[in-house]
Amino acid sequence: MNHLIAPSVLAADFANLGRDVEMLNVSEADWIHVDIMDGEFVPNISFGIPVVEAIKRYAKKPLDVHLMIVEPDRYLENFKKAGADGITVHFEACVHLHRTISAIKELGCKAGVALNPHTPVSVLEDIIQDLDLVLIMSVNPGFGGQKFISRTYDKIRQLKNLAANRNPSLYIEVDGGVGINNTASLIQAGANVLVAGNAVFASENPGEMIRKLKNSSPE
Ligand code: DX5
Ligand code: ZN
Repeated sequence: MNHLIAPSVLAADFANLGRDVEMLNVSEADWIHVDIMDGEFVPNISFGIPVVEAIKRYAKKPLDVHLMIVEPDRYLENFKKAGADGITVHFEACVHLHRTISAIKELGCKAGVALNPHTPVSVLEDIIQDLDLVLIMSVNPGFGGQKFISRTYDKIRQLKNLAANRNPSLYIEVDGGVGINNTASLIQAGANVLVAGNAVFASENPGEMIRKLKNSSPE
């Protein structure tokens, strides 16, 4: 499968969010990545459900909602109603992960699990077949604009191996510090969804940057 690009609106201009979402609509972006931070699971607060609803009113592309929150089960339905097409929860935030994943699917959303940098891929061994997506964090979650952790390449390869037999159509998403300098290596390692915040929104021509990320090929 050709890789997908999911720009993160965390790096957008919140005072001009409608304009920035319009830019994504006409770009080569595939999904719109929406980062929800609660100030508890991660040391930062981003935005909540009303903002997701507002994004949805403009967005012509699927919303890929990344929940960096404790007890995500409490809010799954609200995020679905707000317009989430996919919901990703953190492995580290879910005691009964299988139940949470089932609930996301019952809502009709793509179900994803995110792994922090210190969490090994092997924890997914008994749930990999139930997932639509695994998000490998390549920075510690909480902030945009951080430095990419290079150990991520091994984790992508491990995940690709784990998924090869049991879930070959799994989306393997990478999030944090992704940009034009590492896109080719990430695809080569097996990633097929690339999240990019600052690389897109801090560039002079975001639409053109998305096009470049989309048209990168494996090394
Ligand atoms: C980090 C978020 C990321 C963030 C990526 O906690 O999950 O999605 O927006 O931003 P960049 O691409 O700037 O590292
Ligand atoms: Zn994210």
